[in-house]
Amino acid sequence: MRDSFEPTMDRAVKEVLYTREEIARKVQELGERITKDTNEVEDLLVVGILKGAVPFLADLVRAMPRPVQLDFMAVSSYGNATSSSGEVRILKDLDRSVEGRDVLIVEDIIDTGITLSYLVELFMRRGARSVKIATLLSKPSRRERPVDVNYIGFEIEDLFVVGYGLDYAGDYRNLPYIGTLREEVYSTSKE
Ligand code: IMP
Ligand code: MG
Repeated sequence: MRDSFEPTMDRAVKEVLYTREEIARKVQELGERITKDTNEVEDLLVVGILKGAVPFLADLVRAMPRPVQLDFMAVSSYGNATSSSGEVRILKDLDRSVEGRDVLIVEDIIDTGITLSYLVELFMRRGARSVKIATLLSKPSRRERPVDVNYIGFEIEDLFVVGYGLDYAGDYRNLPYIGTLREEVYSTSKE
């Protein structure tokens, strides 16, 4: 029986930044904080941003012993590594209205802040009662739009990371830890 991802996926990883155990501890801690902070909120809507937030969201809501409802959105932001136009396109919208709801957006990583600043404004415009954000990772040095982030797992430098939901060209989302990739991976990419 295989006891790890070796050798097929681990071979692409340069450095592990956060192990499975470190992530689990952090997610537990965030879940407990959010649960305490929302004890007056009857009706909490947790909105996951597809696809990167899926592993984090799945673990986070199970660390929140309170009633929640789930919904999902998929967005893509225009622009590339060197220039961000700041436009966000909705690929999949929520199934239900956020009007009058207390919303917790769950995201894998906040980079420029373009995606989250857009979503917070969108949900407020749609009449949400409150909008809070939980992100597993944040790169504060990359911020182009101010975002009020309520819950942050780890703050990292300007590094490209994969695993636990985060991808490179669609791959590595199922690594159970977060790490950086070897340079060779980028030069032999499919994209
Ligand atoms: P923002 O709008 O620039 O904050 O974009 C955040 C999105 O960029 C995340 O949801 C990820 O999809 C992607 N992203 C930013 N940094 C990384 C990274 O280091 N690894 C993988 N995806 C990233
Ligand atoms: Mg994403």
